[in-house]
Amino acid sequence: MSNRKTIIAGNWKMHKNRQEAKELANQIVAQTKEIKDLPEVVLCPPFTALVDVLSAIEGSPIKAGAQNMDHRDSGAYTGEISPLMLKDLGIKHVIIGHSERRQFFGETNASVNLKVKSALSHGLTPIVCVGESLDERDNSLTDSVVRRQIGSALQDLKWEEVEKIVVAYEPVWAIGTGKNCEAQEANRVAGLIRTTVNDLYKADSKKVGDVIPVLYGGSVKPSNVEEQLALADIDGSLVGGASLKADDFVPLIKAGAKRVSLALSKA
Ligand code: PGA
Repeated sequence: MSNRKTIIAGNWKMHKNRQEAKELANQIVAQTKEIKDLPEVVLCPPFTALVDVLSAIEGSPIKAGAQNMDHRDSGAYTGEISPLMLKDLGIKHVIIGHSERRQFFGETNASVNLKVKSALSHGLTPIVCVGESLDERDNSLTDSVVRRQIGSALQDLKWEEVEKIVVAYEPVWAIGTGKNCEAQEANRVAGLIRTTVNDLYKADSKKVGDVIPVLYGGSVKPSNVEEQLALADIDGSLVGGASLKADDFVPLIKAGAKRVSLALSKA
């Protein structure tokens, strides 16, 4: 267990209208008020509900993040949202390179790198998603795919910048499928992510991989979260399905709080 930040992030994807989003955020605020050692909680609703969620969480420690952004500041890019627009709302986090964006919207390792650079240059914390497909896992390509995704995402970045990112390991085959990656295996890949980042900054003698939070995502639910968060290299969860109901999400936050308490007791 380390003193790295524990983060429980909810990726609401293309769910919730404004009213539903407000209600869910209100419930999460109300049901987490009394929790001791609250982890960092980030709610990522669709763009259209961000303002409602921001007003629901105002005055609470709960944060809001975006699910995506363009890497450019402004211009003729119909349909896109810029980092400046997110900053304008007061958003601090943005998910970058989610596998659904890679799969359905043509995002590549190169575009992920542009977005990560842009987010950091604007003071936003990117939650950078990496993970292998089922085909890649079946062909024993997990490690090489994850290493390549990390290397590309961080290309041309200095260690001082990389220290500010969050990585989420999300095996594509475990997202929204109910197929959870074994906790030990998720922890192994989280460790691989750390050594990959450490290797990138070896010349600077900086173990950046040891300080960045690495989350696990893919069918995280109340019944499996504790086992994941008990392992050394998993610092939190990026949650899809189970983030859409307070009854499912609040227990995940409580599991995160347990991890924080344990780390504090050992500090
Ligand atoms: P899931 O999604 O929890 O529904 O598997 C995770 C994600 O896509 O971030």
